[in-house]
Amino acid sequence: MTNSYSGKTVLITGSSRGIGAATADYFAQKGFNVVINYVSNKDKANDLKNELEFKYNVKVLVIKCDVSNEEEVKAMYKQIKKEFGKLDVLVNNAGIAIDSTLEDKKVEDFKRILEVNLIGTYNTCKIIGMDMFKKKSGSILNISSTNGIDSFYPYSMDYDASKAGVISLTHNFALSYAPYVRVNSIAPGWVNTEMNKELDEDYVKEECKHILLGKFAEPEQIAMEIFHVAVESTYFNDAIIKVDGGRC
Ligand SMILES: NC(=O)c1ccc[n+]([C@@H]2O[C@H](COP(=O)([O-])OP(=O)(O)OC[C@H]3O[C@@H](n4cnc5c(N)ncnc54)[C@H](OP(=O)(O)O)[C@@H]3O)[C@@H](O)[C@H]2O)c1
Repeated sequence: MTNSYSGKTVLITGSSRGIGAATADYFAQKGFNVVINYVSNKDKANDLKNELEFKYNVKVLVIKCDVSNEEEVKAMYKQIKKEFGKLDVLVNNAGIAIDSTLEDKKVEDFKRILEVNLIGTYNTCKIIGMDMFKKKSGSILNISSTNGIDSFYPYSMDYDASKAGVISLTHNFALSYAPYVRVNSIAPGWVNTEMNKELDEDYVKEECKHILLGKFAEPEQIAMEIFHVAVESTYFNDAIIKVDGGRC
């Protein structure tokens, strides 16, 4: 087991399950101390903490924080600094989607999607990223989506707009924090997580015909790419990287 990243710390927002949990596992496997963030699934977050500490002998801190709330993000970062001194990598992964037909869409849902996906990313990029910039060291990886680049699923037009916004934030924060903090975005295509559990089976089959690799990604596959871009790479900056198996 390689432990070359021992002593480094990552915060992965929304890491109680799905892509975030797989990413927490991957970073811990590489020797990182991990901050797991959740908003409602306390048990899942704590189970993951116990699992990672047992498997990889790293320090894991669990913090409840709604990333859309600026004060909660400030409190979360204060707790991280108290525990670990500093943060090396920030992965902005927390996100929600509320799929519905155009007729059923509600402005309240749209606002909540923007608050979590877009304002949440802004809050952490501003509060934590600014400190990284002052310390002249750090890496930020924002999870956007191919939906924020190519619109092909009107049921999630509100979500798509939020992810286009995350891409825009990535460019602006990369400019703001250069040359000390690299800011990039991974844009996954379809991934097998709870977010897609309501999808109709026939729709999934049809979508797979439009993926060159023929299937949805597993969260672990996205985690590997997140780690590569956020940690191993030295020259990815201001980049929006599609990880979608190739769309046709
Ligand atoms: N799945 C896909 O096909 C896909 C494709 C492209 C991009 N993405 C993006 O990848 C990211 C992860 O997606 P996923 O599929 O892994 O989602 P998921 O399984 O639904 O998990 C979402 C995670 O976000 C957390 N979360 C939700 N609202 C939050 C808030 N206000 N503050 C803090 N944490 C919050 C959840 O915490 P709790 O467990 O406590 O609720 C959970 O840990 C999202 O940004 C999503 O938009 C997903």
